[in-house]
Amino acid sequence: MKDVNLIATLRERAGLTQSELASQLDVSENTIANWEKGSASKWIRQLHKLCSLLHCSLDDLLVAGEDKDERKISLLTPRILEIVQKRCYSLSKQDRKAAAKIASYATFYDPDLRYWLEQADHIIGPWSSQSTEELDCEDVANTLMLQNLLNQLSCVPPDDITFCRFQKLLEPVGLTNNYLERSAVFGSNCYQRKHILQTHPLAVYVIGWKPGQIAGMHHHGNALDAIQVVKGEMAYWMLTPEESERQNVPFEGGEVAARDKSEPHTIVKAGEWVFVDRCHAHQIANRSNEDLITLHFRVGPPPKDNNWTSSGKEEQHLLRWTQVDECILTLA
Ligand SMILES: [Fe+2]
Repeated sequence: MKDVNLIATLRERAGLTQSELASQLDVSENTIANWEKGSASKWIRQLHKLCSLLHCSLDDLLVAGEDKDERKISLLTPRILEIVQKRCYSLSKQDRKAAAKIASYATFYDPDLRYWLEQADHIIGPWSSQSTEELDCEDVANTLMLQNLLNQLSCVPPDDITFCRFQKLLEPVGLTNNYLERSAVFGSNCYQRKHILQTHPLAVYVIGWKPGQIAGMHHHGNALDAIQVVKGEMAYWMLTPEESERQNVPFEGGEVAARDKSEPHTIVKAGEWVFVDRCHAHQIANRSNEDLITLHFRVGPPPKDNNWTSSGKEEQHLLRWTQVDECILTLA
């Protein structure tokens, strides 16, 4: 049976023993062993049949079973985002009649849509009062996608977010390439990091890498990290917590210029993700002849280095930072 090997293979790939998986799922080690021998196949098929009979997806069932607090969150679905964007475009073209029509529909029928239109209004508000600048609809949409992620992360204490859940939350985040490329900054001597958002527990930043630029091997302590390649090719190395400890790899901000000429563990291409579990170390370089842009999501306790300062604003809805950090590394 297909799932017999699949569960064991995926568990091993995630670096978990049967006992560790059992403890995270709050079941006995025997249960995991039985699943891996095939006892899970029956209820997996039943769940599949249940979804088919109820005309719903497995995700629908799982959302229905989640904590009450979690269900209270208004999720930014693609349909809602599309309507909010339509309203933004109407406003940007000064078509206030069309914008009002969408808002009145939302107020009447759909509380989730109403929530997201209100969020958009918090961003659009400052624009309306200084109408000299054009409304950046793409900027509004990307900010809302980040707000959506932040809302979902805020349901669970950062230390309790599982690696699996972290990946599931991040993968659908679809910040637009145009926006990210506009945000990227490059330096002639070393990579440049630019914050898009910095809150506790989520920080998001874009890094621009010229050919040959490299970051030293480092770890993020108890934080989870996700990296998406926006443009170019990323050479990537990763170490397990044991290897990282053995090699005395420093915490982020304390890394030194890498002289490692070894072959990267993998090459990550545009659109692809890398997810970094707690205490794993990693290193990034641009070994190609083209510019590289990477997008980083960091979830966990705030970094300890002093380069991470916010604008000091307490605004909850306009979550953009423009600070560009000087990195400490030079060309490899
Ligand atoms: Fe990192």
